[in-house]
Amino acid sequence: MNKKITSQLDKFYKLSIDERRVVIRDFFGGKVTDTLSTGGVTDELLNKFIENPIGFIGMPLGIAANFIINGEEILIPMAIEEPSVIAAASHAAKIVAKSGGFTAIPPAPLTVAQIELNELAQNPEIIIENREKIIAMANESQKELVSLGGGAVDVEVRQNVGDCGRVVVHLTANCLDAMGANIVNTMAEKVAPFLEKLTGGRAGLKILTNLADKRVAEASCKVPFEYLNRGNLSGEEVARKIAAAGEFAEDDPYRAATHNKGIFNGIDAVLVATGNDWRAVEAGGHAFAATGGGYRPLAVWKIENCTLVGKLRIPMAVGVVGGASRFHPAAAAALDILGAKSAGQLSNAVVSAGLATNLAALMALSTEGIQAGHMKLHKRRL
Ligand code: MEV
Repeated sequence: MNKKITSQLDKFYKLSIDERRVVIRDFFGGKVTDTLSTGGVTDELLNKFIENPIGFIGMPLGIAANFIINGEEILIPMAIEEPSVIAAASHAAKIVAKSGGFTAIPPAPLTVAQIELNELAQNPEIIIENREKIIAMANESQKELVSLGGGAVDVEVRQNVGDCGRVVVHLTANCLDAMGANIVNTMAEKVAPFLEKLTGGRAGLKILTNLADKRVAEASCKVPFEYLNRGNLSGEEVARKIAAAGEFAEDDPYRAATHNKGIFNGIDAVLVATGNDWRAVEAGGHAFAATGGGYRPLAVWKIENCTLVGKLRIPMAVGVVGGASRFHPAAAAALDILGAKSAGQLSNAVVSAGLATNLAALMALSTEGIQAGHMKLHKRRL
């Protein structure tokens, strides 16, 4: 159905809102205008979303243009209240597009549940001896997922977590195109009584871990110096300043927190637009940044062969089925605009958006500063 046009939308910002909707409708050939002008959530639907609803908070939905990801032209929907993020993402994407765009690697869609066990009467080895039985039992609760090729795939045991002899069982499942929280939480509750029986222990918490380190996605880009000229500065000077700003974040957790915030500007905006659980990705991202001692930047910037090279690695537990992704009409429209049919495709767009907003922020911060551009956009409100 996609009537494919280019993602390089020159002067898109100069169009009226209605004209932009027409461009977007043409891009994916669907009924996009009505949904996008109202957000698509009726009072009836509202009641199905949450408890005690009284209305909506209308978060602006915009389009970050100019993205090429793994050779494909992509328009990225972003829901965000902060001015300048979409402009920044589009600007960075335009520069990166000159050298072929972003390369993104989707993660295996593995989500892990934790089952906490205390006061064990048996050696925890017995859990691994019963690995196949536990996997089969977990899969009984997810027949449809298993029929589609997913399901529980592994059981691991972590001993002495804390000083009270706690054992934590990690049950890993391939959740295909779902984020997987409900899937693995159901599995964990299903197998917990069996684990208690096996070990003579007492099961405590049964819930996924948001430190989704088996689901790490990657985005990278390579920008030759010649595309980075800015004002009076040569491309090489700008590239070296960006790399130095990246090093600052590697050296200082106070800076790394802000560096990562700039990454989440892009990431969260796509997650919100597509109805994904951005709190889960934030929690996983920050925990991942803190593994290995200290708090680290999620994206690093280096110079290699007259080229600025950026790489972002972050756990990316996202889905295109389940949750609000298809239930929320505007989120469904956003997924259509993105053309994301799988969790992997969505992940590629999310991490590329994060690397783009990081690049744009470092480029502005290390040259003319961020406030000139930011305040120009902010002033429109005042
Ligand atoms: C503002 O929303 C984000 C920045 O602070 C990110 C950064 O400092 O890298 C500009």
